[in-house]
Amino acid sequence: MPIKHFLQFSDFTLDEFEYVIERTRLIKRKFKNYEPHHPLIDRTLVMVFEKNSTRTRLSFEAGMHQLGGAAIYLNTRDSQLGRGEPVEDAAQVMSRMCDIIMVRTFGQEIIERFAANSRVPVINGLTNEHHPCQVLADVFTYIEQRGSIAGRTVAWIGDANNMLYSWLQAAAVFGFRLNVSTPKGYDLDPQLVTVDASHYTLFEHPSDACQGAHLVTTDVWTSMGYEDENAARLKAFDGWIVDGAKMARAAADALFMHCLPAHRGEEVAADVIDGPQSVVWDEAENRLHVQKALLEYLVLGRR
Ligand code: CP
Ligand code: NVA
Repeated sequence: MPIKHFLQFSDFTLDEFEYVIERTRLIKRKFKNYEPHHPLIDRTLVMVFEKNSTRTRLSFEAGMHQLGGAAIYLNTRDSQLGRGEPVEDAAQVMSRMCDIIMVRTFGQEIIERFAANSRVPVINGLTNEHHPCQVLADVFTYIEQRGSIAGRTVAWIGDANNMLYSWLQAAAVFGFRLNVSTPKGYDLDPQLVTVDASHYTLFEHPSDACQGAHLVTTDVWTSMGYEDENAARLKAFDGWIVDGAKMARAAADALFMHCLPAHRGEEVAADVIDGPQSVVWDEAENRLHVQKALLEYLVLGRR
């Protein structure tokens, strides 16, 4: 049997996501009731970070501890990865010493090479092209707050980045539509769009993309690794702020999401992210619960 990895959202079927979501509900309920849930006693997660993180590190590290296992944090600076050890060799060695590995890195091809040389499951904790754990938490958050996401409309306002490519794949798996508005010059890369055009619509004006949406979401204008482009991006993204006027175009009960960290006054207005439609803190918390279900599923399979 090939090893099951979670390198991009489309690696799981709807049936697998439905199972993980059902386990997430149980795991979250137990966490809230202080009930122990220790299916991963004596298991070890290795976390490899080549980029910064607050939420991803915390949620995987706390989550593995809460499942009864241990988590080890490695970064480029302190490990031999920073001194040129091939990713293939690192994967061979690490995967002989642990049960599961999470990697946050730059190009998707790096995590794919890592996974191809790993004896244990590998989870994508963010690459330049994908952020599937975050979108899993976001889909779970939507379902938790509003019920099924199938047939709903999600508006993506902003950069064509890792979050958007994972949202596109989620639209195809869960059967919702994505309204996408990106500034000129920062549009979708057709090579990274893996889903049929029937799952999304492109809008020139961000306000039009918000029309009737059940969820409006955005992200930073400059992702990690693109810092040199920051000044040009600030200019190009003028008008793409998610503000009250854009939220007013969405459905009356629309939610606002942002994976965080956020820049108030750039991609989102303070009164939106801090307002009543925003569920950003639930989204962040749900990283913990969905990833615990994901770790349990990838290490132990269905229970
Ligand atoms: N949303 C997210 O992945 O946050 P971090 O970069 O803090 O991990
Ligand atoms: N798109 C952002 C997400 C951060 C969690 C980045 O890649 O920096």
